[in-house]
Amino acid sequence: MPSSSSQINFRKRLQNAVLHLEAVLDRPFGPEWNPLRQMGTLSFFYYWIVAASGIYVYILFDTSVGGAYQSVEVMTHQQWYLGGIVRSLHRYASDAMIVTMVFHLSREFIMDRYRDVRWFTWFTGVPIIWMLFISGISGYWLVWDMLAQYIAIGSMEWIDWLGIFGEPVANNFLTPGSLTDRFFTLLVFMHIFGPLFLLFVMWIHVMRVSQPKINPPRGLAIGSLVMFVVLALAKPAVSHAPADLSMVPSELNMDWFYMFLYPVFDTWGAGTLWALAIGISLILAAMPWMPPLKRPKPAVVYLEKCNGCTRCFVDCPFGAVSMVPRTDGRPFEREAVVAADLCTSCGICVGSCPVSTPFRRTEELVTGIDLPDLNLKRLREKPVKAVERIATTAEERPGVMVFGCEYGADTNTVEKPGVAGLSMPCIGMLPPSFMDFTLSQDGVDGVLITGCQSCDCFNRLGNRWTEERIAGVRDPYLRKRVERERIKVFWASRIQEQSLSDQIDAFRKTLGTLAESKGDAP
Ligand code: HEM
Ligand code: SF4
Ligand code: SF4
Repeated sequence: MPSSSSQINFRKRLQNAVLHLEAVLDRPFGPEWNPLRQMGTLSFFYYWIVAASGIYVYILFDTSVGGAYQSVEVMTHQQWYLGGIVRSLHRYASDAMIVTMVFHLSREFIMDRYRDVRWFTWFTGVPIIWMLFISGISGYWLVWDMLAQYIAIGSMEWIDWLGIFGEPVANNFLTPGSLTDRFFTLLVFMHIFGPLFLLFVMWIHVMRVSQPKINPPRGLAIGSLVMFVVLALAKPAVSHAPADLSMVPSELNMDWFYMFLYPVFDTWGAGTLWALAIGISLILAAMPWMPPLKRPKPAVVYLEKCNGCTRCFVDCPFGAVSMVPRTDGRPFEREAVVAADLCTSCGICVGSCPVSTPFRRTEELVTGIDLPDLNLKRLREKPVKAVERIATTAEERPGVMVFGCEYGADTNTVEKPGVAGLSMPCIGMLPPSFMDFTLSQDGVDGVLITGCQSCDCFNRLGNRWTEERIAGVRDPYLRKRVERERIKVFWASRIQEQSLSDQIDAFRKTLGTLAESKGDAP
């Protein structure tokens, strides 16, 4: 069995590969529109395209065995300009959902965002895979062409292997007369209720994600819709010859996104396919509990400092804080409570608490909510020490303090005379008053804030909240008196340390020019 350190190294290598790939796509798309970081939201969007196009296709569809094929032919050829395009959109958006879902789940796995408090989201992703396949495959049956015949018979034989129905369901496809309208209507219902249930599971999937991001950026949504329309015009979805139960289908043009399992079924048989499908699902479902597991201590509320303002409750990206009626008799309505099993120890709540201010005596430095492993007192000692490092190289002005996070570019690598770095679990842990405080220290001319790339915060919302706090649109905000030219934000992933270093050099130059223009050399 591989050791857990070799597992970690392997994962690190995979993560770096993902980050490199994303950095390449950042160039044409920009970090916010990078499709690789939007796979979950794109899956949602494609679902809506499939649902909307499905309603139109259903209006034109004849649900009888005899009329189904012909009705699809009519919409494809006689109404190609609308029915045909909508049918193609329905097919291509369904195919795209498989692609985005596979990328999304692989990314969450590789970036280690599936265990611990995220177990529920991961776990509920597994039935999504089943529901998506059931929904897609049942759609192909309805065309009732040769391909439908092949996959309908294959699917029914696969189900019959379980022996749960007295009469084999595949018997419905034995002879041309055996497929009744009633059975066909049942297939139509499967294709309507399958996707509805899929939507329900998708809703459960994000139910516990606090403030989930469900919609992709507008540009990506419009861009992919246009792409589907172009594809629909260039290569419209068409049917095979009509189904004929007296013939064995040959020369099938498979939709490999949904149908790759059918050749496996033909070659290895139903038993092996069941073993594979159930085995892989069980392994996937168990992933969040597989080693290496790490669990830092959860955040703790200090009631004597908590005034029940709800900021930590609003900002926590994992819904770990709740507000309950006051228990200590102090004149506030509510108090914060942390659910230890939901807390990832990201520290974002520390950054959001109004009491987290460093402009106080060390012994008084207790805040409303804090991390046991890195509390506010220690957090303040660190920049003070780092600033001392800058101050000892006073000739190397302008001095810059770099605040970063454990998941983005490593701030240790950018340290040099005049530049000190400090990482914390998430950049969202840094209260804005700490930026103000650091700038007030001797030797510090600028503060550079870094952390995971835009839209890719390991703790979901840390870099977004930080930007909003600096911009003064989110409490607690950076005080107006702080000169914004002395603060720079540059998001950089772990593989972008060189870019971060270049940005620091550029920032120092700007700070130098700023000081000269003000007539006070640093
Ligand atoms: C149609 C399929 C799917 C859709 C539409 C979808 C959508 C989403 C969305 C919108 C989020 C929330 C993103 C956020 O705001 O942080 C999310 C998170 C997540 N999804 Fe999916 N998902 C799908 C399939 C899956 C599958 C199959 C898995 C794994 C088996 C999976 C695993 C996860 C995990 C672990 C997260 C949590 C990420 C985090 O907390 O940072 N998803 N998904
Ligand atoms: S440490 Fe993070 S997850 Fe835990 S309560 Fe605070 S904000 Fe929520
Ligand atoms: S942010 Fe601080 S003061 Fe406000 S509710 Fe949370 S712990 Fe209490």
